[in-house]
Amino acid sequence: MTLYRRDELTLSKLQKLRFFPLAVTGGAGSYLTNEDGRRLLDFSASWGAVSLGHGHTAIREAVDRAFANQAGASTLSAANEPAVRLGEALLARMPGGGERRVWLGHSGSDANETVARAVVAATGRPRIISFAGAYHGGTAGSMAISAHGVQKHAKRASGLHVIPYPDPYRPYGDDPTGGLVVRELEVAFQKDCPPDQVAALFIEPIMSDGGLIVPPPGFMKRLTDLCRSHGILIVSDEVKVGMGRSGLFNCIEHEGVQPDIWVLGKGLGGGLPLSAVIGPAPIMDYAASFSMQTLHGNAVCASAGLAVLKTIESENLMENAAKVGAELQHGLRDLARRHGLIGDIRGRGLAVGVELVTGGRSREPATKQAAQLVYRAFELGLVLYYVGANSNVLEMTPPLNLTAAEAAEAISILDRALTDLSEGRVPDDIAANFAGW
Ligand SMILES: Cc1ncc(COP(=O)(O)O)c(C=O)c1O
Repeated sequence: MTLYRRDELTLSKLQKLRFFPLAVTGGAGSYLTNEDGRRLLDFSASWGAVSLGHGHTAIREAVDRAFANQAGASTLSAANEPAVRLGEALLARMPGGGERRVWLGHSGSDANETVARAVVAATGRPRIISFAGAYHGGTAGSMAISAHGVQKHAKRASGLHVIPYPDPYRPYGDDPTGGLVVRELEVAFQKDCPPDQVAALFIEPIMSDGGLIVPPPGFMKRLTDLCRSHGILIVSDEVKVGMGRSGLFNCIEHEGVQPDIWVLGKGLGGGLPLSAVIGPAPIMDYAASFSMQTLHGNAVCASAGLAVLKTIESENLMENAAKVGAELQHGLRDLARRHGLIGDIRGRGLAVGVELVTGGRSREPATKQAAQLVYRAFELGLVLYYVGANSNVLEMTPPLNLTAAEAAEAISILDRALTDLSEGRVPDDIAANFAGW
């Protein structure tokens, strides 16, 4: 029986988001090994988590060292050196000053949930603003402040105020600048959402699972200036696009905005479970025993995080993300000239989205074709998934040390997959058993 079939019979569907029958037996660098022995170029990196590629020596050595002299497993009731050092490194890394603290967790979800609870409790303001399409996590508290289509079953926080994320490719209210979103929030502040009731605005500096959407220039600045003028805290959810992926350490830096609170996850652990919140002491020290899990501040995971931070610097990975990401986008634009299915290419650094459409100017979302295309790409040796409200945006978040040759290999595989699709060589129902999202 295949590994994939054993997985189906054993592990719960509740935690699966599958696009094709990938069953991984190992990996090195930017490549995974599938159970049939094929090497697959990994353009997802487990949704951006494997930021240094698979099996990076720096992480392996850091984890080995930490485990060889294990400083417990938690920061709850004892300080440990790697957790404190990681906190110090993150404080030093973030722009701005003032007294700040770092909270360490396992995932983007627990980190965002912690922030959502802490800002409300510490400010006494009960409401939060977030974006339509936002994915801030999969726990009850992080889903409560999200507005992603996959979470239709989830309970939203009472008083959550959801605003549109201006998509330059599909302008909200025909306004590609996002100005209308800001004006509508001004109106809401005067009517049904009094700003003195709002604790925080949660931002994805690139709307990731909502469609890899880069906000229009100046929009985030205008929006955050408005919120700040009412004492609303700005939270940048950098879980997917932070940690150097965009070419800058924090993706929000592209917008000229300095948030009050940064949320890091995924790439911070380089593949191990690790997240962090960096924010002002009055919020982050609001109360003891407020948001804790036994393994939070785990010394082994914190050591991996330190290795990731060091390697981003020592291997110039932000520069690499910017350079190879630009080459990738260039190659994709070349593809777009030959394949009408590609409607838009966008992103920053190595966070790149390719929106698939039919119907030319009418930009009909090519939802079915996206599912067929990622399946065919998998058969041809490339792993990538799709995101977005219409499930039609290919998402590329490969390791930050991706080479130009690997980017070119991905383009060439996509070229073949697109050709196979347009020439009818990909069965219509190829992805029928894979729900995606
Ligand atoms: C922007 C953003 N925030 C938070 C999360 C949740 O992170 P995790 O799944 O690691 O809990 C995700 C996951 O996709 C994300 O993209």
